[in-house]
Amino acid sequence: MPLPPPRTPGQYALALVCLGNICRSPMAHVVLAAKVEGLPVTIASAGTGDWHVGNPMDRRAAATLLAHGYDPTAHRAQQFGPEWHATYDLVLAMDRANLADIGGPSARIRLFRDFDPEGSGLDVPDPYYGGDEGFEEVLAMVERTTDALAAELAATLGPEGS
Ligand code: 4NP
Repeated sequence: MPLPPPRTPGQYALALVCLGNICRSPMAHVVLAAKVEGLPVTIASAGTGDWHVGNPMDRRAAATLLAHGYDPTAHRAQQFGPEWHATYDLVLAMDRANLADIGGPSARIRLFRDFDPEGSGLDVPDPYYGGDEGFEEVLAMVERTTDALAAELAATLGPEGS
């Protein structure tokens, strides 16, 4: 699925949104950042709720990332605000409730899993109230979806896409 064009040619700003910003969107943020290293891509993540603002990632999310070679330590939770829409070229919601909460769907407000090669239009299930296996399931979705996103970003920003 092609990306909406960047507002500033040659760079791309992408935001990832879930409910608490301590599980799903921070996992996607860390994994996507690793996959687009060296590309002019800015990534941020936020929650629609404010309960965890300022906190690090959920310890299960952090442990899952660490076990797969990613560094979760820099994350601090933030809350999404309407002003983010003017800053980011694309805002991706982890589930359909998050999508509705931020005013989507639209060209620049979509579901993260619209880029999942194994299924578009689906939620990343909220792992917060479940067991550790839910975090492994989220990471698997995040890894294959960010692979596809990173390829789209490279195509948009590469010599043929600019
Ligand atoms: P997230 O998970 O949206 O993936 O960060 C949640 C984290 C916290 C809560 C809900 C979901 N909570 O209700 O505090």
